[in-house]
Amino acid sequence: MGTRKTRKITDADLTRVGPDTPAGQWLRRYWLAISRAEDLKDIPLGVKNLNEELVLFRDDRQRLGLLGRHCAHRGSSLEYGDVECGGIRCPYHGWLYDVEGRCLEQPAEPENSKFHLKVRQLWYPVKEFGGLIFAYMGPGRNSPRPCRDTRLWRATTESFITKRLVTTITIGSISLRMRRT
Ligand code: FES
Repeated sequence: MGTRKTRKITDADLTRVGPDTPAGQWLRRYWLAISRAEDLKDIPLGVKNLNEELVLFRDDRQRLGLLGRHCAHRGSSLEYGDVECGGIRCPYHGWLYDVEGRCLEQPAEPENSKFHLKVRQLWYPVKEFGGLIFAYMGPGRNSPRPCRDTRLWRATTESFITKRLVTTITIGSISLRMRRT
């Protein structure tokens, strides 16, 4: 029976939070504050969290959506997309995505094409509570653990959130990032 090689975890690994890193996988087990609700206006808002570039928006029914920022088609930034018709429309070729990343329309495809059903943009669940917007970026995004203790989050985060800084707090760790202006 072969032995499985494991890589030694170093201190530097604590600073890496991408999806395939130990610290990133741990942090993704929590709901994380990604924005103040008041910062999300009627146009999409680019956010970067855990080393992932994302776009946050409210659709025309006021549902929150958090999608991968770069369109699944040719990678254009959805940050410059239009919110309309139940989702966000890519500014380049007009693919339309709902808040769970389903592709609803592809204007250049033939009328009866089903190709849009094969496309799914990266998406994460989001919730608004106490003036903050939380995202869950971990496994099982269709049934994430409940967004509990948000009153605690609110109490601990609000003193750290200023006009230019957004604080991400999990048990035992705090990280700060500059907001895009
Ligand atoms: S790049 Fe988004 S629709 Fe083509």
